[in-house]
Amino acid sequence: MKILPTFRFKFSNNNHLLMTDLFDKLLKNRGPLGMHSKESYGYFMFPKLEGEISNRMVFRGKEKLVWSLNNYLGLANHPEVRSTDASAAGEFGFALPMGARMMSGNSDNHEKLERDLAAFEGKEASILLNYGYQGIMSAIDCLVDRHDVIVYDSESHACIIDGVRLHMGKRFVYPHNDIENLEKQLTRATRIANETGGAILVITEGVFGMSGDQGKLREIVELKKKFSFRLLVDDAHGFGTMGKTGAGVGEEQGVQDGIDIYFGTFAKSMAMIGGFIASDDQVVDYLRHNMRSQIFAKSLPMALVVGAQKRLDLLKSKPELKDNLWKIVNALQSGLKNAGFEIGKTQSPVTPVYLNGTIPEATNLIIDLRENYDIFCSMVVYPVVPKGIIILRLIPTAVHTLEDVNYTIDAFSKIYGKLKSGQYQADRIIPVAN
Ligand SMILES: Cc1ncc(COP(=O)(O)O)c(C=O)c1O
Repeated sequence: MKILPTFRFKFSNNNHLLMTDLFDKLLKNRGPLGMHSKESYGYFMFPKLEGEISNRMVFRGKEKLVWSLNNYLGLANHPEVRSTDASAAGEFGFALPMGARMMSGNSDNHEKLERDLAAFEGKEASILLNYGYQGIMSAIDCLVDRHDVIVYDSESHACIIDGVRLHMGKRFVYPHNDIENLEKQLTRATRIANETGGAILVITEGVFGMSGDQGKLREIVELKKKFSFRLLVDDAHGFGTMGKTGAGVGEEQGVQDGIDIYFGTFAKSMAMIGGFIASDDQVVDYLRHNMRSQIFAKSLPMALVVGAQKRLDLLKSKPELKDNLWKIVNALQSGLKNAGFEIGKTQSPVTPVYLNGTIPEATNLIIDLRENYDIFCSMVVYPVVPKGIIILRLIPTAVHTLEDVNYTIDAFSKIYGKLKSGQYQADRIIPVAN
């Protein structure tokens, strides 16, 4: 669609700003990502990975070793998952049930999945979410009112930040995993809650998706002895991957009971879409009757609910999926460290590799890696991280092999050598093998 220029004067006679057309600014400022849209479409942004979801997929007509999918347990293409998905789609289609859960969109399958998720998480009840992102935003919105205070980790995912934005009361942020500072924020929050008669909600993540480190849940839960608050944990990356049974980071750190509201998504370990919140009976009942994103939106289609149930059953009955994941995680992370790479503080499958370089160097490096070594991984640069830092983010899965790991470490050592010797500087063009 062509956006027509507007015909208004920007200033009136007395120099007051006059209104503009809403689209004017979209033309001038396309945003930090949109500004690169022309050069990066289809390659760095919106790439198309084709073929069966696995460790090897096709990018621009050529097979690549893929390290960028959150298919942690390899369930995306598990034969039992594929056959359940196909038969559920055949039996129910994607329309059933029509409407929001509360109105006409409920079913026995939805309720059974909720009971099973709650039992798996060691909670009394759970509520399904038609999307994880909206679900958690809306849960935050639903749980607090203007008298309450939110205290949250500075590296929280965008869905938490958006949920906090909806909050009409006070909020305090603490630097990532800084428990001393969290105590300070809790002291401030307690003062305010005492004035307003409100309460405190602390929000953090189980696994932080960029750095891979875990939220310090044990220390946060310990603070409940000193302060009165409820704890919401977004365990999108921890559900299915962390803890003895895969119940997540609460289980891993032995503090599942201290998590008052547990959020998990189906979009990562379950390789699907949707999510859930598990908590006490009364909290879930309150969410069910007050959470706007679920009351005013269509419920998860039955075929997806049946698919999610199958995935949960496999996740519980096949511990070898998680064992395979961790075999690859351990080999990749120790191999990278032994080869001299900096992988930061990760305590989860998320594997960031930190390098130093400019954005043109990062661009050349990723092209070389993708075209000449056939490795597809994501790259994070400024403004997401400080200038001069390049993060190559690898997501190991249960369907990767030790050969994939060795090949990747070898290729990374080569590109690292090239980066250090200046071969990726902006004036050099990396030759691409045919
Ligand atoms: C930490 C975290 N929370 C929430 C979400 C949103 O989940 P969904 O993709 O199910 O909407 C994501 C997904 O990227 C995530 O990484």
